Amino acid sequence: MDEMEAKLQELEEKRAKARKGGGPERIKRQHEKGKLTARERIDFLLDEDSFVEVNSFVEPRYAEHGMEDKEAIGDGVVTGYGTIEGRLVYLFAQDFTVMGGSLGAEHAAKICKVMDLAEEMGAPFISLYDSGGARIQEGVESLDGFGEIFKRNIQLSGVVPQISAILGPCAGGAVYSPALTDLVFMVENTSKMFLTGPEVIESVTGEQVTAEELGGAGAHGSISGVAHITTPNEEECLTQMRRVLSYLPANNMEDPPRLEDSGGLTKNTELQDIVPVDPNKGYDMLAVIDNIVDLDSFFEIQANYAQNIVVGLARINGQSVGVIANQPQHKAGCLDIDAADKAARFIRMCDTFNIPLLTLVDVPGFLPGVEQEYNGIIRHGAKLLYAYTEATVPKITLVVRKAYGGGYIAMCSKSLDADLVLAWPTAEIAVMGPQGAAKIIYRHELKEAADAEELLAQKVEEYKDKFANPYVAAQRGIVNDVIKFEDTTRRLANTLEMLRSKRTNLPERKHGNMPL
Ligand code: HXC
Repeated sequence: MDEMEAKLQELEEKRAKARKGGGPERIKRQHEKGKLTARERIDFLLDEDSFVEVNSFVEPRYAEHGMEDKEAIGDGVVTGYGTIEGRLVYLFAQDFTVMGGSLGAEHAAKICKVMDLAEEMGAPFISLYDSGGARIQEGVESLDGFGEIFKRNIQLSGVVPQISAILGPCAGGAVYSPALTDLVFMVENTSKMFLTGPEVIESVTGEQVTAEELGGAGAHGSISGVAHITTPNEEECLTQMRRVLSYLPANNMEDPPRLEDSGGLTKNTELQDIVPVDPNKGYDMLAVIDNIVDLDSFFEIQANYAQNIVVGLARINGQSVGVIANQPQHKAGCLDIDAADKAARFIRMCDTFNIPLLTLVDVPGFLPGVEQEYNGIIRHGAKLLYAYTEATVPKITLVVRKAYGGGYIAMCSKSLDADLVLAWPTAEIAVMGPQGAAKIIYRHELKEAADAEELLAQKVEEYKDKFANPYVAAQRGIVNDVIKFEDTTRRLANTLEMLRSKRTNLPERKHGNMPL
């Protein structure tokens, strides 16, 4: 073997060693847990043969505290770039087969390198977590490494989309990295995400809980709201990650990609039958959305959390839109603390990535209750008003049925700077519902009436005739037009087109003081 051949062979050997991660035994254990390896995940996520690894030869900075004899080429994380549907992305995947994917100084430095590239190149950043957390042997340097990652998550926020998947343990302070990203994906029975685990909780509070109950996809998808998308398995998770990127631009300076062949405008044949005229009857807002947006284009976010409001990405005539809609099937569509938080965060994500907002309103108001007041519905509800007003993307509002009181204002009313407010003939825009309004206005008359029930029914009818329709608002220009059900998608597509060149001038300030 000549000198050149030897050098080439050395490279091949080193590369092969790096590629085998923690070795066959640990890979087998990973598969037995129903998990893919870091490299298998990357191959599944990216376009075929598009992955280019960066820093594959990095090894741990320290060899102490039992690490002396450990081989850890790559330092427990695979980093690099590749494409999804031909579009550049940067990513890392923690390799649990190498020291439990624990994060040491070099592991963190590798992640930071690709984050910096993502920022400079203006391309999405994807994180695949599967790790025992801070590498205990590396002490404070691994904490410092986490801090460097958190800082970059914050610097990248609103610049490039950041999408994370929890594909194993993600515990302790490590959880704050995904929490700082735009969208968090979790897999049932695989993802475990908590700040303090079951053992610590039991020793401190005495509460007994399993890791899955505490930090699984179910808990974070429906109770805490930490997870945005939950899936039954890893393959589905990675497939959905690919899909969500199709709605987003590469960075905040670009518009979202437009699908040229979107299958034509959706025919609104069923809308009229879905929405009951009776304001007290429930119906499924998801069916309304599906009958407006491009076929199968609705990508729901936080589907099992705060179900009284629906949020998600969709397309109308191939153009990305963010849909925010009250769901009469849950809590009658009332706004509450979690709904306000969920919608406000989604609105801000859309605004930061130039995605127009479509708001579908059927809201009886804010949810009454001591618990809601004590937990700060005032503070949380304010986030929704703030997020809508702050957003400078095109904002279209369609009043479906009820739009009462503070709820009406909060759901992107004209006064919060909606660019165009449309209403269906079923819309009722009023300070409150007819029953409540009549009881307050005619309190004295009702007290003295011989037949209070009959008088109330009569006053409710009078109130309905006068206020429970879209025309009072339309007379004042608070609603810009009342449209037929069958014209909805055509009208929305036209409005989106009309608003494409929207420019907004705002007074200079460092940043507003959003209620948090
Ligand atoms: C160093 C670690 C490690 C860690 C796991 N390993 N976590 N090494 N630092 N944090 C190693 C294990 O020693 C083991 O090495 C290998 O990874 C696989 O781990 P196992 O325990 O065999 O796997 P499993 O049974 O699946 O259990 C996974 C686990 C457990 C639940 C994650 O490993 C665990 O509890 N690890 C410690 C978690 C932790 O307390 N981390 C610190 C959190 S505090 P060998 O060689 O034996 O196979 C934190 C602060 C961050 O992260 C703050 C940021 C601001």
